Amino acid sequence: MDFSPVLAYAFDWLNLLLRWAHVIVAIAWIGSSFYFVWLDNTLTPPEDKALRDKGVGGELWAVHGGGFYNPQKYAGVPPKLPAHLHWFYWESYSTWLTGFALFTALYLFNAGTFLIDKTVHDWPPVAAIHAALGFLVGFWLIYDVICRTLGKGKHGDAIVGACIFAVVVFASWLACQLFAGRAAFLLVGAMMATSMSANVFFWIIPGQRKVIASMKAGEPVDPVHGQRGKQRSVHNTYFTLPVLFAMLSNHYGWAYGHPQNWLVLVLIMVAGALIRQFFVLRHKTEVAGKPAPWAWAVAGVAVLLGVIVWLAPQPQPRQAAVPSETPAQLFTQAQAVVQQRCVLCHNAQLANKGVMLHTPDLLQSHAQQVYQQAVVLKAMPMNNATQITEAERALLGRWFQSTQAGQAGPKSSP
Ligand code: HEC
Repeated sequence: MDFSPVLAYAFDWLNLLLRWAHVIVAIAWIGSSFYFVWLDNTLTPPEDKALRDKGVGGELWAVHGGGFYNPQKYAGVPPKLPAHLHWFYWESYSTWLTGFALFTALYLFNAGTFLIDKTVHDWPPVAAIHAALGFLVGFWLIYDVICRTLGKGKHGDAIVGACIFAVVVFASWLACQLFAGRAAFLLVGAMMATSMSANVFFWIIPGQRKVIASMKAGEPVDPVHGQRGKQRSVHNTYFTLPVLFAMLSNHYGWAYGHPQNWLVLVLIMVAGALIRQFFVLRHKTEVAGKPAPWAWAVAGVAVLLGVIVWLAPQPQPRQAAVPSETPAQLFTQAQAVVQQRCVLCHNAQLANKGVMLHTPDLLQSHAQQVYQQAVVLKAMPMNNATQITEAERALLGRWFQSTQAGQAGPKSSP
């Protein structure tokens, strides 16, 4: 008995469940992180003297779900530790754990299919896997050194920001020279997201533990822990939108498949960071009663519009069917192409994404999907593993249009 369809099915479920879990915990993480950034920027000094005497530096009032809330932030540490203190770290850790598991199941386990595009860089899967892991670890190490060494002085934050940006640009360029476009985009996102979680794991949470240990020991609290945690937390804020774009980009072949795909990635990430900056500043201007910092949002949207215009396809004349090609002939030819270029990965034993193309009926019933993936998006064959030619793609296009022409109504010619 052949178990491979069952295994493939089980694997698809693993993929689906991990992805589901990953999105859920990521929403919890980014949601709480957005909430605290908003909270921090929206607090106002308390009017009540009793609160000020208690050490409260900022408070706000909010209504949500029918209840009234009054969060208060202490200027320093509270005079005594409460019995129940809520921590926020499992959101971050579980996002990283599910994300890394998904990355392993999809990209590392199938490195030959997903990580490698032989037309970009032809190398063995083992080497590509090591390089991918190297990106995750390497970026963290470099980023961490930059934060620790360059963050001092008046322009420390700006210098750190500029250096991180330069490293992200370089990493994006390098990833796109080494990996399949789809994998490269995801990897750059994963590398930044890994550093976001590492910030929580190595700096923010340990810093908070040290503060609490000092409080329990009755020792003075070193403010450096708070400052370091804040620095990393701010970086995480600006990484969020770029990372989310990188995570979603794998659905859009025209973005990661562009010849200058690294620049596409960098520009969209810049747009994300600019838009995030607008929201961060807007919380503050709103409290201060000042006009919203629209320039940031406009800049972010302008960059996005620029990319949209840049990537727009050149309008192509509708491919007129060569008179000698009847729909039946086109179908026979299309079938031959699909047999040679697609069936390897789409058959009864191996049906990626449940798509099977090994019989004429199956091909007919998937005509729209085949056209989408092989002609419009050029996402298939995966990383062009079977070396389909442009002429063959064009043939698939003509075949698809011949099937549409038949459905569009009665034929005009007798
Ligand atoms: C080297 C293996 C391989 C080859 C060759 C290949 N595919 Fe695929 N195909 C895949 C994989 C892997 C997926 C699942 C991609 C994913 O998970 O996003 C897939 C998915 C698809 C899908 C579903 C896409 C979706 O997101 O719904 C279609 C349609 C498809 N392929 C069509 C084709 C066509 C047409 C060809 C030939 C021109 C082809 N494939 C050649 C591996 C391959």
